[in-house]
Amino acid sequence: MKTKLVLIALVVAAFFAGRYAANLEEPATQIVDSSEGRSYSGGYDKNQDATVTSGEKQVAQSTPGDTIEVREGELIMDAVKRANPGDTIRVYPGQYSETVYVDKDDIRLIGVIEKGERATLDGKGSMNDAILYSGNNFVVENFKIVGYKGNAIMGQAGNNFEIRNNVIKDTGVYGIFPQLGKNGVVEHNVVSGIEDAAIYIGMSDNVHVAHNDVFDSVAGIEIENSRHAIVENNYVHNNTGGVLAFITPGLPIKTTYDVVIRNNFIVGNNHPNFGAPGSTVSGIPAGTGVLIMAADDVVIEDNIISDNKTAGILITDHENASNVTFDPESEPNPDRVALLDNVMLNNGYDTIAEVKALMLAELKTGSPDIVAVGGGVESCVINRHRYQTVGINDYKDCEFTNTDQLVTYLLDEPVPPRNIDPSERGMIAYLGVCAGCHSYTGRLIGPPVQTIQALYMENPEGLAEYIASPIKKRPDFPEMPSQAYLGEETMLAVAKYMLEAEN
Ligand code: HEC
Repeated sequence: MKTKLVLIALVVAAFFAGRYAANLEEPATQIVDSSEGRSYSGGYDKNQDATVTSGEKQVAQSTPGDTIEVREGELIMDAVKRANPGDTIRVYPGQYSETVYVDKDDIRLIGVIEKGERATLDGKGSMNDAILYSGNNFVVENFKIVGYKGNAIMGQAGNNFEIRNNVIKDTGVYGIFPQLGKNGVVEHNVVSGIEDAAIYIGMSDNVHVAHNDVFDSVAGIEIENSRHAIVENNYVHNNTGGVLAFITPGLPIKTTYDVVIRNNFIVGNNHPNFGAPGSTVSGIPAGTGVLIMAADDVVIEDNIISDNKTAGILITDHENASNVTFDPESEPNPDRVALLDNVMLNNGYDTIAEVKALMLAELKTGSPDIVAVGGGVESCVINRHRYQTVGINDYKDCEFTNTDQLVTYLLDEPVPPRNIDPSERGMIAYLGVCAGCHSYTGRLIGPPVQTIQALYMENPEGLAEYIASPIKKRPDFPEMPSQAYLGEETMLAVAKYMLEAEN
């Protein structure tokens, strides 16, 4: 009897030992990325594309080319130099410390994730930008980016972009910043610790911002001087301001409209404001869930907006906003804002003096979920009795109750690449690069263009020299990052353009 038991025990032990040994041999890493399917949330089956009803899809379609592999110790930029349009650059886990500038079309820059380890771009607290792209049909996925001073990922006039599944922390002024792009997706990114906007859609059209986790930044998700944008299914928490749709005056593109903000969690955005003094976002009161400034045709629907201490939703014109200059070419009022059903809880419990004064004027006390101040026409709200509100007595009841018919503003076909005629180089660089930090009339990150014009009026060469290797001049401004990567010709062209700019 005893031997039998021992025998069974041995057999069992041997069985598990065998299983264990077999487990030690793991299958080789299977590398998949979105080029094999449409998106992370939908798996990798290309054939299912037709049945997909969500807003996400590939927008950077191009004929696939070669794959170039980059491993720790090598430079990603070397691979970019070697790459041809259509190529995929696959970056293996490890530490990389460089600025990657992609000025070719149809490049996929894909990090490989192995056992949770990512290809990590580390700016060491001294480098400005991690990834800059000006090519069209650019895809960037799966990176970890930390410790830069300017941007983690910045687009400069590239169309059809996909920025997906990146983890970004403490990268300075902006996290993800497509500027002057059309038709693009920003999804499944985790972005935190950003001094201005974590996700900043600037002067762009037809964008989809979805499934991102955005926190510990001054502005969470910002749709600025852009049109046809959907912001959905994001988790936006512990920023100074959560989701923003607005017009910054003094930029060359003057409108923001058709913005849908739906199905997001916008929670506890009470972070003290640490924006650069004088910048637009430094005027955002801590505790602002959603901020609409001068933007038109904005729909806010089915969000959970809670625990934002100043207001759940704050709607303002330019005149009543702090740190905003007047632009005669921008219409300063938020028109046709539609506040559909939202769950709003515990907002406005420690609001600012200006809002308290507004409430007093309406003989109200309490904690406002919705605050509207200044001009604007034809806005509407449904179920207004559910919320504490101030300033929306002129809002009608909305004539529609949901945006189900609107799946996406992304385009069915990729838009043609932006072909830049040499004569337009200065203008495009001005719009795509400089306007991120310089407005014509007011202070953004850098001084106003008018000030610069006064300094350099007859001297474009001097201006070009400055931007190639900027030196610190103004104690109350951050340093300006070098623009040398643009090349001498473009730097001179942009200098001339900036000096001639009229608004
Ligand atoms: C990331 C933000 C940023 C970007 C992008 C940027 N600048 Fe600046 N710029 C600044 C800041 C900040 C200053 C102020 C620096 C200082 O005074 O120390 C500045 C200052 C300047 C000055 C003033 C120089 C002087 O002598 O006083 C010029 C000229 C200038 N920028 C031109 C440009 C041009 C042209 C571009 C686009 C190619 C550009 N900048 C892009 C942030 C930026």
